[in-house]
Amino acid sequence: MALKTISLFTSILLFLLQVCLSDDEKKVVKSSYWFFDSAYPLSDIDFTFYTHLLCAQAFVDPNTFQLNISNSKTAQFSVFTQTLQQKNPSLKTLLSITGGIADDSALSSMARNASTRKTFIDSSITIGRPYNFHGLVLDWEFSSTTTDMTNLGLLFKEWREAVEKESKNSNKPQLLLTVAVYFSSVFRSLSYPAEAMENNLDWIKVMAFDFGAPTWKPNLTEAPAALYNPFSEVSGDSGISSWIRAGFPARKIVFGLPYYGYAWKLKDTNNHGFLAPANGADITADGALGYTHIRNRTIGQGSAITAFNYTFATDYCYNGTTWVGYDDVKSILAKVLYAKGKGLLGYFAWRVDLDDNWTLSKTV
Ligand SMILES: *[C@@H]1O[C@H](CO)[C@@H](O)[C@H](O)[C@H]1NC(C)=O
Ligand SMILES: *[C@@H]1O[C@H](CO)[C@@H](O)[C@H](O)[C@H]1NC(C)=O
Ligand SMILES: *[C@@H]1O[C@H](CO)[C@@H](O)[C@H](O)[C@H]1NC(C)=O
Ligand SMILES: *[C@@H]1O[C@H](CO)[C@@H](O)[C@H](O)[C@H]1NC(C)=O
Ligand SMILES: *[C@@H]1O[C@H](CO)[C@@H](O)[C@H](O)[C@H]1NC(C)=O
Ligand SMILES: *[C@@H]1O[C@H](CO)[C@@H](O)[C@H](O)[C@H]1NC(C)=O
Ligand SMILES: *[C@@H]1O[C@H](CO)[C@@H](O)[C@H](O)[C@H]1NC(C)=O
Repeated sequence: MALKTISLFTSILLFLLQVCLSDDEKKVVKSSYWFFDSAYPLSDIDFTFYTHLLCAQAFVDPNTFQLNISNSKTAQFSVFTQTLQQKNPSLKTLLSITGGIADDSALSSMARNASTRKTFIDSSITIGRPYNFHGLVLDWEFSSTTTDMTNLGLLFKEWREAVEKESKNSNKPQLLLTVAVYFSSVFRSLSYPAEAMENNLDWIKVMAFDFGAPTWKPNLTEAPAALYNPFSEVSGDSGISSWIRAGFPARKIVFGLPYYGYAWKLKDTNNHGFLAPANGADITADGALGYTHIRNRTIGQGSAITAFNYTFATDYCYNGTTWVGYDDVKSILAKVLYAKGKGLLGYFAWRVDLDDNWTLSKTV
């Protein structure tokens, strides 16, 4: 009898725990980019690991300031949501918007003037809605003048107003609005308009990576996506702390995870940790390597040594003079736990096609 009571009690506890957990899980954003130019077929995405998929990318036309999807992409972009939702109806999709491959001046010009902001906003809804996207994400890397930052705040306010209005008229849920931001709330001494962002965006995507790369830090191996860094102010944790200090709510922050790393050429094969002397990039021109490539070229061949550094909470591997700083399962796990501990909304990965047999996606 006593045993039965205990087991019933345990079952109820377990049930309650499950209810709480699943409820909590539902609120977590697990997202990744799908990048058209990678030629990775949409049908290959394992949607089960993610709650949101981001379709990259539409451009802002520098002359008309309208959203512009090139003809080659139109067919796939228009069925992106439909294709993924056939597999998982609860999956949400967002259309990613940039100023151009290497030039965001179109965004800066667009944001400068109320009339061009309106042109852009209207076209983003006119394209996003019929293609059945659930939201829009602005990938502006980065708004870099005081004027840009002020205009960014205005853009978000007007965008939200337009989205609210459209929702009332169409009787559909409001489009989600998000933006990709620098790892810190301050970019080159300029503060992001945190209040306008909090009031008008569903969440922000903090790019907690690209802290060091061999093209601009050739002489020492770096931790390209360190979670912590006792030697510098540049780390995922210091970025998140700065957003929270700026008054931005943790519950609206989505933490960035890179499914890639950078290869350096070591000067001395016996000195192979972080901050070891190096001679620039290895393997590729800029050293950038997707996770699949890292696994295949260095680890997968069996001859590389892999290591996790607890100070930076990130991984590296090396073989001979080849050295790679990147995020493996342990880094991703450390970051997921960090995000949970800080009460962040979730994570986003750049990008799904760089994962190796879903190893990192599963961890997330
Ligand atoms: C979109 O861009 C292409 C070239 O990239 C251009 O030919 C076309 O006119 C643009 N469309 C709009 C609506 O601006
Ligand atoms: C804003 O843009 C519109 C349309 O391009 C133009 O007519 C107007 O002069 C611009 N205003 C300012 C202040 O630049
Ligand atoms: C790297 O080292 C070279 C040679 O010692 C030096 O000229 C260069 O300024 C260093 N680069 C950086 C980014 O520190
Ligand atoms: C991580 O790397 C740094 C730089 O090489 C080193 O100072 C530190 O001791 C390492 N941390 C651990 C726990 O080994
Ligand atoms: C892995 O590396 C081998 C040998 O370098 C190559 O033939 C193969 O295409 C690579 N596979 C992937 C998925 O990169
Ligand atoms: C690792 O280094 C050894 C010795 O330099 C080399 O024979 C081997 O090909 C390297 N493996 C990879 C995957 O580069
Ligand atoms: C991919 O992962 C699955 C399940 O974890 C495993 O069974 C399979 O062997 C893996 N495939 C490759 C090519 O590593």
